[in-house]
Amino acid sequence: MIAGDLAGRSERIEAFTVAMAGLDVEFAALDVTDFDRCGALVREIVAKHGRLDILVNCAGITRDTSLRKMDALQWQQVMAVDLDGVFNTCRHAIEPMLAQGHGRIVNISSVNGQTGQFGQTNYAAAKAGMHGFSMSLAREVARKGITVNCVAPGYCATEMVMAVPEEIRAGIVAQVPVGRLGEPEEIARAVAFLAAEDAGFITGALLPVNGGLFMSF
Ligand code: CAA
Repeated sequence: MIAGDLAGRSERIEAFTVAMAGLDVEFAALDVTDFDRCGALVREIVAKHGRLDILVNCAGITRDTSLRKMDALQWQQVMAVDLDGVFNTCRHAIEPMLAQGHGRIVNISSVNGQTGQFGQTNYAAAKAGMHGFSMSLAREVARKGITVNCVAPGYCATEMVMAVPEEIRAGIVAQVPVGRLGEPEEIARAVAFLAAEDAGFITGALLPVNGGLFMSF
């Protein structure tokens, strides 16, 4: 499912379609803040394909600023996409997954949900909240063949990270043991691992993919 910046969505779908030419892939735009639309898309997928096996929640936005400068809209927008969006899609997707006795849910969190970050009280709260949500849902559906996990990316070469002022970004990269930004493909590798058929014994986990920026056990 694709979501995020509504303004550029048709261009992004076009770009994805070109990149995936030759593969059996379909795209649909979805505003993950719209609970009913999330339900409608899940029902459309099940009507067309008979089942829904994998849900990856990767819609996310930032509105970085220190709390003293943050207005209510900047808080609400980040919560609406980054956290409410996860509820909105999961709430509907678990129905067909429960009915078929199989499902893989992977939620894309962030290293900053583990550590906090200057200027990200909204984003870090949403990303940490996503982990609590995932652990709770993992317990609820564990006996029904459904796993729920988070991947927590570090700083990757994406538009979102490139929007961080260069000086601050350079300072962050300097702290990454691997010594570079990650690539989106390196996050996708972790998602594919957790979404695999034989990953059924991994649930409620948070898999860090951050170049060593934050290590814990
Ligand atoms: N650390 C410490 N102090 C900082 C600071 C920082 N990172 N940033 C600003 N400050 C200081 C300033 O020097 C200033 O100090 P004085 O009052 O003494 O002058 C004070 O804090 C206020 O600074 P600003 O007015 O510039 O603060 P701001 O509200 O405009 O916000 C900011 C600054 C743009 C948010 C900046 O801190 C920043 O870019 N932080 C990093 C944000 C970040 O890493 N975002 C990640 C986006 S990518 C992503 O999120 C993907 C993912 O999952 C990893």
